[in-house]
Amino acid sequence: MKKKVYVGISADLLHPGHLNIINEARKLGEVIIGLLTDKAIASYKRLPFLTYEQRKIIIENIKGVEKVVPQKTLDYVPNLKEIKPDYVIHGDDWKTGVQKKTRQQVINVLKEWNGKLVEIPYTKGISSTKLNKSLKEIGFTPEMRMERFKRLLKTKPIIRILEAHNGITGRIVESTIAIKDGRKEEFDGIWVSSLTDSLAKGKPDIGFVDFTSRLNTLNHILEVTTKPLILDGDNGGPVEHFTFMVKTLERLGISAVIIEDKIGLKRNSLLGTEAEQVQDTIENFTTKINEGKKAQITDNFMIICRIESLILKKGMDDALTRAKAYIEAGADAIMIHSKEKDAKEIFEFCKEYSQIKDKVPLVAVPSTYSHVTEKELADAGINIVIYANHLLRSAYPGMKKAVETILENGRAYEAENFCMPIKEFLNLIPENK
Ligand code: SPV
Ligand code: MG
Repeated sequence: MKKKVYVGISADLLHPGHLNIINEARKLGEVIIGLLTDKAIASYKRLPFLTYEQRKIIIENIKGVEKVVPQKTLDYVPNLKEIKPDYVIHGDDWKTGVQKKTRQQVINVLKEWNGKLVEIPYTKGISSTKLNKSLKEIGFTPEMRMERFKRLLKTKPIIRILEAHNGITGRIVESTIAIKDGRKEEFDGIWVSSLTDSLAKGKPDIGFVDFTSRLNTLNHILEVTTKPLILDGDNGGPVEHFTFMVKTLERLGISAVIIEDKIGLKRNSLLGTEAEQVQDTIENFTTKINEGKKAQITDNFMIICRIESLILKKGMDDALTRAKAYIEAGADAIMIHSKEKDAKEIFEFCKEYSQIKDKVPLVAVPSTYSHVTEKELADAGINIVIYANHLLRSAYPGMKKAVETILENGRAYEAENFCMPIKEFLNLIPENK
């Protein structure tokens, strides 16, 4: 009987290194591919470019592959226990990094039936990281960018979004990585906030920065990023304007717009009841949602409806009634906003919301209750967390300090302490090199 050879693979950006591994596997017996699902991949690195189904079609047509089975976790053990292969083949690049633990588990479980791990020397000069970079250079189509957001929603326990208000902040969200417990952590998408888009232009957040100007900001960010974008659409304007807005955003490949249920002069929600803010009627707002959904052309664009009942002290029941009505009108997700210092009312809403039939994903914006962790939010049922203003708020104190220091000293020398070295600054944009 032919020996069984198991190869765990993502098969997103296939290169000769992968084919080499499959080739070596063929020499040992029947090749069974454990194809990592989107969820398994997203648990330790970025979402693959191709969906599971697309990757499956490619891999099952490669010479020597006899069978493809889904591998639902980064951990090989469940599949290995079921298949009991004679060999597991892997590149030797997993001896360090995120997969080190996974490798050890493979070695341990194989002992149970005298299986062997065979490691193939890593093919030098080709790496998925480099291919990934080249792919980004080739560019993303609007469709690819837009649909990515829905795929993320299906694969990750919570999606992390960060505000950007121009090209450079877009680049920061796009490419900043932090290492946590040996894993690369990064943001999943970009929030184009009305607050920071207005303030960055020196204007108040009262809807004075018009849609043409907001589109300009969007375009600057679109030009230098590939991650999904969510636009803060304020209240979407009159229904007749909103339907145009939806079509325009879809054409650009924006993944979602969030509209809030308020009318009259736009005021920032974090002003709460200190500013005069009026909530729209359920009837008017559901009409707007409905018309927006009718105007939509693609399947992937999302209209997210933002409930301001807690901000305006209208109570939990009002918030929940609105959630149900907005979902019925076609809302693709609900954003529940709060300006309390703790997350008590948000968690209370989440608890009640979880009982709603046909519920849609839930968005939270923890600006005032920032002590809450993503894990706590995810456990409560939040699917998307937006850090709504942190790039502009963190940049501003540094700028102010530099200005004061130059004025105090009559020269710029001391202000260097608050500035990046010019060379490093130029290198922020790779094309400067
Ligand atoms: C924004 O970022 O513009 C928002 C969120 O709408 S908030 O400022 O909290 O209202
Ligand atoms: Mg706003």
